[in-house]
Amino acid sequence: MSNNKQQALVEKILAGKNTNPSNTTASAWASTNIALCKYWGKRDDDLNLPQTDSLSVTLPELGVEGTINILQNQTAIFVNNTPLPTDSHTYKQLHSFLNLFPIPQKKNWQLNLNFNIPVAAGFASSACCYAVIVKLIDKIFDWNLPQKSKSILARLGSGSACRSIANGFFHWHAGDLDTGEDSFASPIEKDWPELVIALCPISTDKKATSSRSGMQITRQTSTLYQSWPQQVTNDLPIMLQAINNNDFNTLGARAEQNALAMHATMHSAWPPLVYSLPETLTLQRKIWEWRKQGKEIYFTQDAGPNLKLITQTKDLEWLKSELPNLVISHPFQTRDPK
Ligand code: PMV
Repeated sequence: MSNNKQQALVEKILAGKNTNPSNTTASAWASTNIALCKYWGKRDDDLNLPQTDSLSVTLPELGVEGTINILQNQTAIFVNNTPLPTDSHTYKQLHSFLNLFPIPQKKNWQLNLNFNIPVAAGFASSACCYAVIVKLIDKIFDWNLPQKSKSILARLGSGSACRSIANGFFHWHAGDLDTGEDSFASPIEKDWPELVIALCPISTDKKATSSRSGMQITRQTSTLYQSWPQQVTNDLPIMLQAINNNDFNTLGARAEQNALAMHATMHSAWPPLVYSLPETLTLQRKIWEWRKQGKEIYFTQDAGPNLKLITQTKDLEWLKSELPNLVISHPFQTRDPK
């Protein structure tokens, strides 16, 4: 996955930084994030440069605890205490990402990643994964990189990872430059203590089509994709304004519409890309029925069948009684980044 363009960008960001680790071990946490205005489609596949801006909220309770050690022997990567086979796709991806950074002479990394969310199942595990690796490397070298640099570096692993550097709402600016230096996520200074994101697991099986290839198929074959940048141009300012005004129903409705529009571009791709299962649609219909009855509950959906419900503390007890399996996040009540 790593390539010359990525290496050039990393070297630019790390110019003048020390290349000898100050520590032999480091630990860090990164939370996952959920997009309210989606990122779907890249203008540069090597640098994960998006076609459009996007907007997310970090889920502080859900993510990955990472530790990194410097070792003498071969790089070893553990996910949830299980070693990744060195010929596996995930090992190769993580290994080439680690190789973007200066590796101490004749030494290697041991990386341990412990997730409290399902991996590769549409719960944005890759977002927190690459964000935590950047935090770990930053700590090993004592670089104290600014948030913007960390965001750019994490983006090279997985686009959405650039929005997982800290808590709160994040606006990922697509940027214009070919080098990728101006494509990063910046925080939106706004608290919303009543906001609740509830993950509704429908299936935690590994997804059949990765976001990376799903985006490529959609861009190449879906005529509806042509309208996607305009969708984001319309939705994003309305969502930003809704956040500013604490206007829950506008934010929820736009987020839901934006996710459905993204999935519409996938449905019209060839071969068609349908991440939903029958249970996904059943739950969507239920949510539309609840709204007719006056409940303020919306959903968003990523590259998987699971829905992420957007609601407020006032409706949470009722929602939990209807859907007992929810995984609840209060994005603005857990301010302390782990
Ligand atoms: O960062 P990736 O390659 O995992 O892509 C994420 C794509 C979506 O989750 C569907 C949308 C988003 O903005 O997070």
